[in-house]
Amino acid sequence: MKILVVGGGGREHAIIMKLAESPQVDALYCAPGNGGIAKYAECFPVKATDIDGIVALAKKLEVDYVFVAPDDPLVMGMVDALQAEGFHTFGPKKNAAILEGSKVFSKDLMQKYHIPTAEYHVFHTPADAQAFLKEANTYPTVIKADGLALGKGVVIAQNEEEAFAAISSIMEDKIFGESGSQIVIEEFLTGPEVSVLSFTDGKTVVPMVSSMDHKRALDGDMGSNTGGMGTVAPNPYYTPEIARECMETIFLPTIHAMQKEGRPFQGCLYFGLMLTPKGPKVIEYNCRFGDPETQVVLPLLKTDLVEIMQAIWEEKLDQLEIQWKDESAACVVMASGGYPKKYTTGLPISGLDENGQIEGCFVYHAGTKLGDGKILTSGGRVLGVTATADSLRNALKTAYAGVEKITFQNAHYRKDIGQRALKALPEL
Ligand code: AMP
Ligand code: GLY
Repeated sequence: MKILVVGGGGREHAIIMKLAESPQVDALYCAPGNGGIAKYAECFPVKATDIDGIVALAKKLEVDYVFVAPDDPLVMGMVDALQAEGFHTFGPKKNAAILEGSKVFSKDLMQKYHIPTAEYHVFHTPADAQAFLKEANTYPTVIKADGLALGKGVVIAQNEEEAFAAISSIMEDKIFGESGSQIVIEEFLTGPEVSVLSFTDGKTVVPMVSSMDHKRALDGDMGSNTGGMGTVAPNPYYTPEIARECMETIFLPTIHAMQKEGRPFQGCLYFGLMLTPKGPKVIEYNCRFGDPETQVVLPLLKTDLVEIMQAIWEEKLDQLEIQWKDESAACVVMASGGYPKKYTTGLPISGLDENGQIEGCFVYHAGTKLGDGKILTSGGRVLGVTATADSLRNALKTAYAGVEKITFQNAHYRKDIGQRALKALPEL
């Protein structure tokens, strides 16, 4: 089987390394890929958002499957375009990817089908939003741009001044473009956050091992929001009892709602949850694998990912038993100094072997490129150093030992990945 993976970050590297384990795979391709992925798959310089370019590449390579990993091509309808040309795909079609592509759509769906989420109001003009906030006068409050915004479309406003500033930058200055033509203002929820990625063929939903992201740039959850500075799996706050409740009140209702709406969701559906004092609630849906959640979830997957992909394509997910390792995983992201603001790229990375790896860890490349045979930094998040072990403590120990062996100028990483999760675990 020949598979083309669309994307070029740490998530795609984790997907490719998992696909590479399958005895069914003859060739792996990636577009655009990166310096680490290039060691496992032939990379082509086609942008992940270039629908015509990807369709043309899939034709040229005569692939059997195209795995579309990032949010923007999914929301733009890349899967529809590929299927129209006869390709088998992994990922939702445009009419289902809207679950991530429009917060207004997802909130309205949850309201209609009684899926627990924060209370919310939708606004089309700044004046209406401001009038609502004056009247409600409850802070903190949460303001979200409707569309995709590189994970930066959510503002938690502590007071009226911050709220009005957010409304103005999203709706008037259009810092996220058309994504900001509508906004959602919602209730501020509290509680531990859990990411649950799931496989679904539109009818059956199979949750993967739970995980916990660390979104802020600095230790102690300080500093700016980032794409994610590290993850651990499983998430100890997500008990079997909570998992059962989520299945009943959130996962199945969401899959059935999408089916009823004529938008069956196939691929990976990501549930961003908050375990509030009033029970688990949906913070957001993503229409794809999370980054860097994938980096801790897929190493724990025992079942062949290609088999899962086929079962989803054939809508026979109910016939497959998906198995997980009874282990923990930790991923520590090494970022360019300054990320998520200004940073330098093109710096040589030392400590990696010829495959861009180090012994005992999976080193998922997020922002690297090859230059003169060397691996160089090329993005904000550079590497996700990941380890699995019999316990979270040991996984963290191995991942951090890996981080210590890798150097590049101004490398920045959080020293406290997994600390919050460890607090939730009973002392042994
Ligand atoms: P999102 O981009 O939707 O994942 O949101 C980014 C982060 O904002 C989430 O991971 C939460 O930490 C926070 N957040 C989003 N919505 C809410 C909410 N209603 N209440 C509290 N925090 C929220
Ligand atoms: N790590 C959060 C996301 O992938 O959206």
